[in-house]
Amino acid sequence: MKALKVALIYNAAAATTSESPEDRGSVNDLRTMIRRMARALRSLGHNVEILPLSNDLMAFQRRMHRLQPDAVFNQYDDVVHGALYEMRVAALVRMMGYPMTGSPALALGLSRYKYMASTLLQGAGIPIPPDTHLLERVGDVDRVRWQFPIIVQPSQEHAGIGVERDSVVNSRNALKDRVRRIRSTYNQPALAQRFLPGREFNVGVVGGRRVRVMPLAEVDYSQLPGEIPPIMSYAAKWLEGSIEYKKTSVICPAAVEPELARRISMVSLRAFRAVNGWGYGRVDIRLDEAGEPYVLEVNCNPSLDEAVSLARSALRAGINYPRLLQMILNAALEGMPFDVDMPMLGNAPAKP
Ligand SMILES: Nc1ncnc2c1ncn2[C@@H]1O[C@H](COP(=O)(O)OP(=O)(O)O)[C@@H](O)[C@H]1O
Ligand SMILES: [Mg+2]
Repeated sequence: MKALKVALIYNAAAATTSESPEDRGSVNDLRTMIRRMARALRSLGHNVEILPLSNDLMAFQRRMHRLQPDAVFNQYDDVVHGALYEMRVAALVRMMGYPMTGSPALALGLSRYKYMASTLLQGAGIPIPPDTHLLERVGDVDRVRWQFPIIVQPSQEHAGIGVERDSVVNSRNALKDRVRRIRSTYNQPALAQRFLPGREFNVGVVGGRRVRVMPLAEVDYSQLPGEIPPIMSYAAKWLEGSIEYKKTSVICPAAVEPELARRISMVSLRAFRAVNGWGYGRVDIRLDEAGEPYVLEVNCNPSLDEAVSLARSALRAGINYPRLLQMILNAALEGMPFDVDMPMLGNAPAKP
């Protein structure tokens, strides 16, 4: 294996909202994860430079050009400037001419614009929950004949942001309240879908041209009190003190009959490809009453933290953390088919 010069880039802009210590989604946790990733990459013999990017793009570009990395490990996850910045940074890195891990700008954008991604999947014949609607105004609620329960969430967030107990609604008025709240809190349209009550799976995929599905993970809501809806809310994901966090667990590998596992894997791979995903991803799937799988969302560049989420699924396939990161680097160096490499900043190295 060739030793590489790797630039590990991440979003270092400070969040404006105050963070409680029990919130696992905080900036401190991000820094810890970046350090763990750097350690794992160095254990493979790579030369790793950590490059934070906050508000000085010129300084970032100067550092990149001084470094001339063989590959950029992209961990830029922007909660400060908003969803669009992830795709902008990815585009910028590629325009500088460096190979970059994970998905290209287009896929990162689609990952965040959930309604666009869902309707694209639908157009490609991939099952998405029925009654998927984008609600820009409260009045839009009256245009649809809803079949409740409906789940409502911000249409351009991720990581459980804006997903709460009240997100599952049973009436038109409750739905309107949610749309109003999402507009005022997140300044964006709401995404509404039929609530699917079946089992929920997270499907990890890793690789470039030859992409592999990792052992399925299932979200276990069986310990959750009946009055709390079985959903991966913000609390369930990040707030260690909450009932949601304590009573929601993930089982990996999930106990799934081979035929169902095959269908879930196929649908997930097709969804990842349809949104132009590359390198690694995680597809969220939920079953309906009849046990049919539907794609809730495709996460391009999902969390790569050690021992959880995608890294945990990989481990079940015998792929340890450093090896997972290496597979992701390999996919970056392999490059996407039909991609073009024409640096616009002059002094980036030519592709070998
Ligand atoms: N149509 C749906 N039916 C049932 N549950 C859903 C549906 N959409 C979302 N959820 C629940 O909400 C959670 C978060 O939704 P998701 O679209 O994956 O957003 P996020 O980007 O916050 O992970 C899912 O993990 C799932 O538990
Ligand atoms: Mg999700």
